[in-house]
Amino acid sequence: MTFDLVIAGGTIATAADVFKADIGVKDGVITALGIGLEGAETIDATGKYVLPGGIDSHVHIDQPSGEGIVMADTFETGTLSGLFGGNTTLLPFCVQEKGKSLRDALTAYHAKAEGNCYTDVSFHLVISDPTESVLGQELPAAVADGYTSFKVFMTYENLRLNDAEILQVMDTARRTGALAMVHCENEDAIRFLIDRHVAEGRLEPLSHATTRPLAVEREATHRAITLAEVVDVPVVIVHVSNGAAMEEIERARARGMNVTGETCPQYIRLTEKDLEGMNWEGAKAVCSPPPRTEAEWDNIWRGIQTGVFDVFSSDHCPFRYDDERGKLNPKGRKDFRHVPNGIPGVETRLPILFSEGVSKGRIDITRFVALTSTNHAKTYGLYPKKGTIAVGADADIVLWDPEAETTIRHANLHDGSDYSPYEGLEVKGLPRTVILRGKVMVKDGELVGARGDGRYLPRELSMKVRRPG
Ligand code: URP
Ligand code: ZN
Ligand code: ZN
Ligand code: ZN
Repeated sequence: MTFDLVIAGGTIATAADVFKADIGVKDGVITALGIGLEGAETIDATGKYVLPGGIDSHVHIDQPSGEGIVMADTFETGTLSGLFGGNTTLLPFCVQEKGKSLRDALTAYHAKAEGNCYTDVSFHLVISDPTESVLGQELPAAVADGYTSFKVFMTYENLRLNDAEILQVMDTARRTGALAMVHCENEDAIRFLIDRHVAEGRLEPLSHATTRPLAVEREATHRAITLAEVVDVPVVIVHVSNGAAMEEIERARARGMNVTGETCPQYIRLTEKDLEGMNWEGAKAVCSPPPRTEAEWDNIWRGIQTGVFDVFSSDHCPFRYDDERGKLNPKGRKDFRHVPNGIPGVETRLPILFSEGVSKGRIDITRFVALTSTNHAKTYGLYPKKGTIAVGADADIVLWDPEAETTIRHANLHDGSDYSPYEGLEVKGLPRTVILRGKVMVKDGELVGARGDGRYLPRELSMKVRRPG
């Protein structure tokens, strides 16, 4: 049998094994692992790791952001940036606007994504208005159609749900088999601190961090887990920034709860100090929860190493810094309350975790693959089609050079933002070639794929939800 494509001579790493073999690809699918395979096209992977394509299960693309603020990425630039960062699948959010239906939201986001993507994409829903019809009909129908996860917020005035609403939404997750993700920060406590900061005239970017201290995240994390326990449903705690919130997850697991933890590059590479700086430079690091301290980096690393965190996502949420419609919008230039929350990071996620983790000896390559690909596929209903290198899986493959070094410069990235919060960071280990369903998309750092090569993926129920038998 001749294959369409053979990837020869590399070191394959999955979440479980590291081994030398060639990969044979036919019709976009891995059909053989062996030695001496021959294909119409052969890529030499000598000296490279051969990894399943990165899956980033937490990205924001082209979300309406209010106040005339425009997110910096379309599906074209967001997925292109993700692709160059070694990703073959992204899971952006499809946000229900208050007073509107889930159908309206899905129609709008599909229209934005259709024909524009360089990676495969699938949507999580954001439930902002859990009406009777949303809970009774729309959400169950959406789950049946392959939108098998959704996020709820405990903060942000226009998105937050109260505890009663969260219980109702979680109960719908229990009935339908959907997986609930929760953004954990106590909005009332934040409001209280914001009022106090404003009264004191403290309007600079750093106030974003000091109005969202660790305690407001820890409390909300505890509460979200408690609500999930009351309903008896699995839950994902997204973008955990610190050890105290992480310990809430550890305690819940110790009593037998099904809790998934997610953390992000900003919580191992940025600190509150990045929100200081001249001329509102600190606005570049405004995200929620805010970056903490170097001592918290160590706590987060412990969670990455011991498995408290199953998934390492970017929370890519790009705005332009020096732009009327971005971070320094007319109001955002004077008052931290108007600086949009979120930072770009879909292209730098894998290099930062590899460099800080694998190259520096904190984690091994199998853990890297689990954290950046396999566990995302398992958690969000894409496994084993996505997230591994095995016969029958989609040929989503990255050739990774563990020795390549670079200094992160926004000028070399592909997103629509105008800065990187990691500017100047030196990283060792980079994706060189990226293959999507057997099609070479990036070859030795050059784009060869096309806009529209990425497809929409309906998803199965999460493996965290499925019961055996
Ligand atoms: O600041 C952030 N993280 N913005 C994105 C929205 C969210 O809460 O994930
Ligand atoms: Zn969030
Ligand atoms: Zn987010
Ligand atoms: Zn950019």
